[in-house]
Amino acid sequence: MMKLIENFPLKEATTMHLDVKCRYLAEYSTIDELLQILDSPTYRQCRSMHIGGGSNLVFTRDYDGMLLHSCIRFISVVDESDTEVIIEAGAGIKWDEFVKYCISHNYYGAENLSGIPGEVGASAVQNIGSYGVEACGIIERVNCIDKPTGKPAHFDNQECRYAYRDSIFKNEYSNRYIVTSVEYRLSKTPVFTLTYGPLKGLADQPGLSMTDIRNTIIDTRNGKLPNPDETGSVGSFFKNPVILRQQFETLKQSYPAMPHYPAADGRVKVPAGWLIENAGLKGFAIGGALVYPKQCLVIANGGTATPDDVVALYKHVTTVIEEKYGITLQPEANII
Ligand code: EPU
Repeated sequence: MMKLIENFPLKEATTMHLDVKCRYLAEYSTIDELLQILDSPTYRQCRSMHIGGGSNLVFTRDYDGMLLHSCIRFISVVDESDTEVIIEAGAGIKWDEFVKYCISHNYYGAENLSGIPGEVGASAVQNIGSYGVEACGIIERVNCIDKPTGKPAHFDNQECRYAYRDSIFKNEYSNRYIVTSVEYRLSKTPVFTLTYGPLKGLADQPGLSMTDIRNTIIDTRNGKLPNPDETGSVGSFFKNPVILRQQFETLKQSYPAMPHYPAADGRVKVPAGWLIENAGLKGFAIGGALVYPKQCLVIANGGTATPDDVVALYKHVTTVIEEKYGITLQPEANII
């Protein structure tokens, strides 16, 4: 069913829980309904953007335009062989519902991405990742509607130009295509990725199952990340910076304990959470916004945060990190 709501409050529709609203919210359940919206005078007269589960969005003021949101919700098998299966999921399916579907059908590959808030459509735009796995490792094809023409368009994995929390849909094609469904390639035989910290200990476990992995991940997440139903946040507020090896070697002399991981082109990824904690900002607050003490990469809404508090804190953290380490943090969240 299509819905057009005026002056829609975003406090509960976004996990940051800020008191802001949008001029219109348009929701649709089919591609035909989406095309009707794109053809409507209301849509044509205002600016617009597409949202997913609202778990990576920070509105710094009311949005004076139309937010589009997909309620296209289905999961189906598109193709399968003895060893693999291609699953198509509608953009409006909750990401974790998709993960649970895969686990319950014994399709391997999505389990490390357990517990991530948000929806299938955004998984393909943002290239969500956790515990050593990124969505681009299982995405086969992304099905879209081209906004200017209303025509369908399909992108295979290579064409999406995936990188760390990045894709063509955030760059050249930003605001051009609307993802309607995503096809994922999963394995019917066990292939586990157990390289990341808390999962390493599972490697020797006899009869290891996807549910074991999921449970370990959910426990780890619960211990570090705020529950979006209770404490507002967008998960990681910043990306982990990737720096040149030379800069890393210099920093390492001052900060020998700094964790680090190899990245592309001989560069080095360092955890922004560590940099922020080590800069003494753990728990630092401006108004109702604070650096979340259990995971400093998170900016939390203590309950009364205003958009200005969040912006002031984000700028403060960025400045301190720049001055202390000479590293410019980039937001992982979409700041609007
Ligand atoms: N660390 C600190 N202090 C902190 C936070 C982290 O010292 O306050 C250290 C940890 O001890 C560890 C390292 O930094 O040595 C990495 O920490 P963690 O494993 O918690 O992961 P992260 O790099 O902080 C990334 C993703 C998360 C994802 C986890 C697990 C980004 C921006 N964040 O965080 O993704 O869940 O790895 O894979 O890449 C998200 O994108 O919203 C998100 C939560």
